[in-house]
Amino acid sequence: MVEKRSWAEPWKIKMVEPIKMTTKEERLEYIKEAGYNTFLLKSEDVYIDLLTDSGTNAMSDRQWAGLMMGDEAYAGSRNFYHLEKTIKEYYSYKHLIPTHQGRGAEHMLSQIMIKEGDYVPGNMYFTTTRLHQELAGGKFVDVIVDEAHDTESLHPFKGDVDLNKMQNLIDKVGAENIPYVCIATAVNMAGGQPISLSNLKDLRKLCDKYNIDIVHDMTRVAENAYFIQDREDGYADKSIKEIVYEICSLTDHATMSSKKDALVNIGGFLATNNEDVFVKAQNMVVMYEGLHTYGGMAGRDMEAVAIGIKESVEDDHMKSRVGQVLYLGERLIDMGIPIIQPIGSHGVFLDAKKFLPHLTQDELPAQTLASEIYIESGVRTMERGIVSAGRNKETGEHYRPALELVRVTIPRRVYTQAHMDVVAESIADVFARRDNIKGLKFTYEPEYLRFFQARFEPLQ
Ligand code: F0G
Repeated sequence: MVEKRSWAEPWKIKMVEPIKMTTKEERLEYIKEAGYNTFLLKSEDVYIDLLTDSGTNAMSDRQWAGLMMGDEAYAGSRNFYHLEKTIKEYYSYKHLIPTHQGRGAEHMLSQIMIKEGDYVPGNMYFTTTRLHQELAGGKFVDVIVDEAHDTESLHPFKGDVDLNKMQNLIDKVGAENIPYVCIATAVNMAGGQPISLSNLKDLRKLCDKYNIDIVHDMTRVAENAYFIQDREDGYADKSIKEIVYEICSLTDHATMSSKKDALVNIGGFLATNNEDVFVKAQNMVVMYEGLHTYGGMAGRDMEAVAIGIKESVEDDHMKSRVGQVLYLGERLIDMGIPIIQPIGSHGVFLDAKKFLPHLTQDELPAQTLASEIYIESGVRTMERGIVSAGRNKETGEHYRPALELVRVTIPRRVYTQAHMDVVAESIADVFARRDNIKGLKFTYEPEYLRFFQARFEPLQ
């Protein structure tokens, strides 16, 4: 008898999208045209696209059927009420303001809650989140546990908040200058690392003592719940659905990019339990996104989100979603490739500092590695290092993150295990020739979120 039977995806494929194969000569040309930035490649020229898990998901036949049930009324669409009910039932939040995607919600919440000179602690920064906090006059303060910045640490909950760091900040700047603490689930920039429920409960107590709100960046909450079920004492018998509900209940407001967990291609929302924030956001959404019952989304898209939320908390779905990421990560570990451990939920993060130890941070090791992986095999990945971190608004200096990573991000329900094998083998081939890889330098640097549109050229 086999000791442990393999798992397989709880779905079968009904429609396929052909992908183009390219030669190495062609790819050298394409990446040069793209200024060595994988964001500037044409999708047609990519073989396996692991740039992001954002909006790249495959929808189910139920979701596609839901699109046909779109109520495209300007006001009061049936699909809005379905979404509102779903968010209450699955995520606990009382009020919903739909937005075109996550950053629309971040923009409104930051403008409503942050005043000039405020401090906004969080369990590591995210690019768009921090930018909106800064644009509103706030200063982001990292309060994640130290282990999150250590690629070797096997801490099971690297997304946890260091409560001492939080207390120190309160003592230093005063609770009245901290409008909220922002908690991401399955912390993206830390490598898809979870926060534990016990840590979140302790944080809740601390915040209650000082009257500080908790904002939940719930982009990948169900993935975080998977790790809680797997690792945290007392949760093995709880369903993902129950764990997700419990996480959300411990927070006051949420920003969501539905393009991840919720299994759609576009959409987002702001959710809150606070009447005052809700009323202000309803006032604001009509200026920036659309009427408060669609917020930049088509009725059909809100329907697909509502259905996607229900599918996202199914245990079998999450087991295969995270299982596929773990499969790729374990293959890379077996091949001796340096990656962040424990393996995260939405992708595998290559440690570019260890992969290319001869490059300094100014030679942009992660940007270089992402570009080399594309040249090698047509696999598209993303830089998450100094380029993504951007510059300090006040000093103009580069932010210098401890982590210099390449994110190999897996879209949900899109690729097979064979694709994962090809990815692992191509990265191993780059690893074999790593000593001959030279770095990159900027030739064009945009002012905001520079990683999206920056251009580079190889160092001689
Ligand atoms: N918060 C987190 C944790 C995210 O990962 C993202 C998007 C956002 C907020 C913003 O949401 O894109 O819908 O406006 N992350 C994408 C990524 C871009 O590739 O990780 P958005």
